[in-house]
Amino acid sequence: MQIVKIDSTPFNGQRPGTSGLRRKVKIFQQPHYLENFVQSIFDTQQPLIGGTLVVGGDGRYYNREATQTILRMAAANGVARAIVGQGGLLSTPALSHLIRKHQAQGGIVLSASHNPGGPNEDFGIKFNTANGGPAAETVTEAIYQRTTEISDYKTLDNIETDLDHIGTSRLSGMQIEIIDPVTDYAALMQTLFDFDCIRRLLRSNHFSMRFDAMHAITGVYATHILEEVLGAPAGTVINRRPLPDFGGGHPDPNLVHAHELVSMTQGHNGVDFAAASDGDGDRNMILGQNFFVTPSDSLAIIVANAHLIPGYQKQKIDGVARSMPTSQAVDRVAGKLGIDCFETPTGWKFFGNLLDAGRITFCGEESFGTGSNHVREKDGLWAVLFWLNLLAVKQQSVATIVQDHWREFGRNYYTRHDYEAVDKTAATQLMQHLRNRLEALPGAQIEGHTIEYADDFAYADPVDNSCSQHQGIRIGFTDGSRIIYRLSGTGTQGATLRVYLEAYEAAPEKQQQATASVMAPFVSIARKLAQIAQKTGRDRPTVIT
Ligand code: G1P
Ligand code: ZN
Repeated sequence: MQIVKIDSTPFNGQRPGTSGLRRKVKIFQQPHYLENFVQSIFDTQQPLIGGTLVVGGDGRYYNREATQTILRMAAANGVARAIVGQGGLLSTPALSHLIRKHQAQGGIVLSASHNPGGPNEDFGIKFNTANGGPAAETVTEAIYQRTTEISDYKTLDNIETDLDHIGTSRLSGMQIEIIDPVTDYAALMQTLFDFDCIRRLLRSNHFSMRFDAMHAITGVYATHILEEVLGAPAGTVINRRPLPDFGGGHPDPNLVHAHELVSMTQGHNGVDFAAASDGDGDRNMILGQNFFVTPSDSLAIIVANAHLIPGYQKQKIDGVARSMPTSQAVDRVAGKLGIDCFETPTGWKFFGNLLDAGRITFCGEESFGTGSNHVREKDGLWAVLFWLNLLAVKQQSVATIVQDHWREFGRNYYTRHDYEAVDKTAATQLMQHLRNRLEALPGAQIEGHTIEYADDFAYADPVDNSCSQHQGIRIGFTDGSRIIYRLSGTGTQGATLRVYLEAYEAAPEKQQQATASVMAPFVSIARKLAQIAQKTGRDRPTVIT
């Protein structure tokens, strides 16, 4: 096996976004494109040389080819040991756990998360550091800088690894361990939740559930954990077979893309509990019979009920964090518990330092992401098991649990409007226009609502003091409602403008209204303030969640 040095030249635009480098498959398939990025990881992350690397992805198109490329390059660059999920598969939270369990120096996740897959769709690569979490901005920036000056990369002459058989082999000087992708993750879940209690619930005649794997990676995990270990009836997991194009669907667990699952919860015969996860298994959607739990509420309810779950009974709840656009529901729970609540920029990487420093136990994002200190990624199935454990302990419906929570803490009505694939220049100008008006907005009255503050969110990390600027425009009103604007950092086509809207309602008799009607005045204010139609040519959003 010969180590070869291949000449290469930099590609433009290999700067990772909110969550790694995501591009169309066709872009990744260009000769040297993936290799340049991978070599830039090895060039800048010295501990990997002679160290351990975990590799796996969500099974989307190009997952296998990319895994082979990375293994060849890892061996050629002197990585001592690679741990790889069978078939090149690992969910993102499972990969995070493996890094931590084996004290690896890092991991490479192959996924574009909830973005569609297939030869004409998206692929992605993300580097996770030794704590198991997505690399911090300083690291991704160093990798990016390296991609701008790269002139060659190291690999092995055409050699393929057998990814399908569990066992240990050698590739040049590197040991490769092909492992079952589920075993370690399932064992971790068992340490956190009361499996006997959940098993009784799942086997009871009075309870029915469905889990939609959306033809993505969690099919493998959910079938094992829910059906084989916890005894849920066969067929509980739907769309369980991972497919390279996710069956042509959009593996994003929300009301729009998981409509098949949503319809199973509707009507008198709707199932009691339903949940879905995304392409790489880190997102979750929680539904009850005729009931949708917003991710922001889910986080708040998880924190408020942590004392009922074995894995969290044992530990002191250090604090919580939410991304800035996530509703302030969890802030109220933290207030009552007397624990810290941090507001961080969008993206899981900003939770890493807080988790590592023991400042927070739980964290979450409005974008269907919830997690805890058990790994350093958000974790879809974890959230599902948390809810199952809660339902089993409380013996109440999802709706009752959520409505009781609102009665106690107030309800944060919440919605997000996405304007996808808008012209990049127009989107940038829209944000700049808002930024220019920030100083003039506080005190202004718009359609009967008074603006209390308006700013461009900046975050100073309390652990390493690094500062992240321009993380979204926040407009807060005197009644506690908020409008937030930001541009997506994960899109692969044009720009995506996200508008997040939140309104607080303390009075129980006003907590049963339809979200759309409560939010309508704020939607109107948001469109006017940013001149969305004028600036983007769009009179309505593409997706509402
Ligand atoms: C989106 C979500 C964000 C999440 C990220 C990765 O990023 O909004 O909360 O962390 O995907 O799953 P965005 O496209 O908004 O930059
Ligand atoms: Zn994901």
